[in-house]
Amino acid sequence: MTKQALPTNTNFSFSTSQSIICEWGGAAKLADICHAYSPTSVLLISDAGIKQLGLYQAALDSFQQAGIQVDVFSEVLADPSENVVNAALTIAAQCHADLVVGFGGGSSLDVAKIVALLAHPQSEQSLGDIYGVGNAKGERLPLVQVPTTAGTGSEVTQVAIVTTGETTKAGIVTPLFLPDIALLDAELTVNLPPNVSAATGVDAMVHAIEAYTSKVKKNPISDLLAKEALALMGRNIDTAVHHGHDRSAREAMLLGAMLAGQAFANAPVAAVHALAYPLGGHFHIPHGLSNSLVLPHVLRFNVKGAAAQYAELAPIVFAEHMFEGSVKEIAAQFIQQIEQLIARLKLPTTLKEMDIPESFLPRLADDAMLQTRLLVNNPSELKRQDALAIYQAAYGQI
Ligand SMILES: NC(=O)c1ccc[n+]([C@@H]2O[C@H](COP(=O)([O-])OP(=O)(O)OC[C@H]3O[C@@H](n4cnc5c(N)ncnc54)[C@H](O)[C@@H]3O)[C@@H](O)[C@H]2O)c1
Ligand SMILES: [Fe+2]
Repeated sequence: MTKQALPTNTNFSFSTSQSIICEWGGAAKLADICHAYSPTSVLLISDAGIKQLGLYQAALDSFQQAGIQVDVFSEVLADPSENVVNAALTIAAQCHADLVVGFGGGSSLDVAKIVALLAHPQSEQSLGDIYGVGNAKGERLPLVQVPTTAGTGSEVTQVAIVTTGETTKAGIVTPLFLPDIALLDAELTVNLPPNVSAATGVDAMVHAIEAYTSKVKKNPISDLLAKEALALMGRNIDTAVHHGHDRSAREAMLLGAMLAGQAFANAPVAAVHALAYPLGGHFHIPHGLSNSLVLPHVLRFNVKGAAAQYAELAPIVFAEHMFEGSVKEIAAQFIQQIEQLIARLKLPTTLKEMDIPESFLPRLADDAMLQTRLLVNNPSELKRQDALAIYQAAYGQI
């Protein structure tokens, strides 16, 4: 009998949200879902787009019917700034919030995490004290996260990202950001526009791919989650983007994005994200699209370190495609399939199309090299000249 091979990493830790509820229409039962925390004053944090669509109205009604005071902060902007966070904290103090609900995309969920922490009555910290890894202290208010995009997986990650200057973002990493409850109600995502569905969906797929090839913390649980996430999203992303009202496609994408979030929360992302962040910072390109623009080029660079893993993922992501040949050939076909997927989703494919000046590419390469926290996870060592070559390829000149 052959002995079952041990996974590569048997020394690992894994954390995720306390409780995950997956229910179509679940947002209308939010008061019931929060019952165990006996809230008296709830602050729901969201953005203007979601407000306009009336997406959280049923959730508000449920609190009102239960006799629970509920206030809304709906001024979150994409890539939230410190001013947005501080404005939300002011409202939390005014209404004496004792439970925080994040309701929206990654931006709203990230603001909700910080508010739940800093609005706790015993908190002695301010925003400036908690940037970085493990600097947040004490307790937070009960936190319930309701994602309305199938993308960041923020509902199961220990990270919140804040825009700190014109072009700079900073992360806060703490286990206190894992919520008490993550509620996945895919009904909220049916009106997500095709371009947002496509960009956020690719972001989620990148989380799973980068977790699966993550050099330092890849582990047996993150591997399982990444593969399941990619199986779900690979089979459903086209339908979710082109036929947004398809219930099962939306359910698969929201579940897949959460599983991918659990994977990368424990086996962190790498060069795709490291090269994507400067695009978002300097040119305000949405996070998922920034990832998509550099994705095929980073994968091609990574083949020397990750061919075997790409070849393993290929038939999982693209179940309909026949992959044939050596590991290297299958890895190359996988990258071609990813390129074709991005084209089918009608996302822009070159930096040139995004009006990024070619003369700016060296600056992007400099900034990408600052993402050392991410680059250590990359399966192939990436130097500045590699980053520049990737941006040049993404620019569309090669
Ligand atoms: N915490 C993490 O782990 C993590 C990881 C990656 C990115 N992020 C952060 O998340 C943010 C990006 O989040 P995102 O991509 O989810 O986008 P987002 O929250 O910025 O929202 C994008 C747009 O989509 C709209 N929208 C959201 N849900 C909708 C719906 N159901 N129907 C119609 N429109 C809807 C919003 O109104 C908004 O205009 C960035 O700030 C990024 O830095 C966080
Ligand atoms: Fe991401």
